[in-house]
Amino acid sequence: MVSGYREKDCRWFLKGFVWIFGVLCLGAPLADSVAEEVNVYSGRKEALIGPVLAAFTEETGIQVNLLTGDADQLRTRLEAEGRNSPADVLLTSDVANLHRATAAGLFQELDSELLEKRIPSRYRDPNGRWYGLSIRARVIAYSIDRVSRTELSTYEDLADARWKGRVIVRSSSNVYNQSLIASMISAHGTAGAGKWIRGLVANMARKPQGGDTDQIRAVAAGEADVAIVNSYYYGRLLASETDRDRQVVGSVGMFFPNQDNRGTHVNISGAGVTAHSRNRAEAVFLLEFLSGPVGQKLFADLNHEFPVNPEVAPSQIVSDWGSFRADSVPSAKLGEFNGAAVRLADQQGWR
Ligand SMILES: [Fe+2]
Repeated sequence: MVSGYREKDCRWFLKGFVWIFGVLCLGAPLADSVAEEVNVYSGRKEALIGPVLAAFTEETGIQVNLLTGDADQLRTRLEAEGRNSPADVLLTSDVANLHRATAAGLFQELDSELLEKRIPSRYRDPNGRWYGLSIRARVIAYSIDRVSRTELSTYEDLADARWKGRVIVRSSSNVYNQSLIASMISAHGTAGAGKWIRGLVANMARKPQGGDTDQIRAVAAGEADVAIVNSYYYGRLLASETDRDRQVVGSVGMFFPNQDNRGTHVNISGAGVTAHSRNRAEAVFLLEFLSGPVGQKLFADLNHEFPVNPEVAPSQIVSDWGSFRADSVPSAKLGEFNGAAVRLADQQGWR
């Protein structure tokens, strides 16, 4: 059932059903029963979150109203709505988006033993304002024909002159690259990260364009030899049943950089409870469900991501990649460096 509420990029989806069984058992008159509900603003598409929310409704009886949209638009909307916002939960990908929402005062602090137990501290806000729900690695996609795995090592190495005209990556206006630059600032300081960007830009085979999937396709098409992309885009192509996608992954490999030092840069998708939530208890239940075994499995599998809860096994496609060392820098720190990363990319000419 879809409500009448519609906007260009935002749609409400009403999901689930009213759970009255418990109310009847407690002896409350039916007329007084109010459907428990939680309103979610999601920067993730309905296809990547809908089935998990349906499972939550099935398990708890709490109805979920979902509004999907662009992360920046949702944040602006929450700010404009202020205390009148119907939103209880803001769910989005990349710690840069979570950090911006936190800086705008849009989240409230939670104190949930379950969330703290299930989610490693480096993947949640130290003050309980947001929690990571899935992990994605920013990996190197490479041409199997033109690159040997032994030539690949680190992000830093992609700035070396021997990669001249062979590297592609999307624009630095994208938060994934901003968080990658933030990880370079964390590892090397601003000057070191700036030097790396200069070298990388000098090696680019073309001006940054398209999304991560486009970079993988371009490597397959011979436009470049290596690309920097999020792991799940490669996973999606692996899972695809179209011949075109199979051909792409048949000629492109995936490599986890920096395994001999600090580890591959990883990011999260995550969520927090809004500052003015009117359904706080239900919102916390939802976050706890998303961090638990059923929620984690569905949430991570839908997009070929790594579960944030170490007790939950990844999908077959993700398990087949094997284990890897992830950079241990806390997600919150990457968020703090976001502003510096954006400025640095601009100064060093990463368009
Ligand atoms: Fe993405």
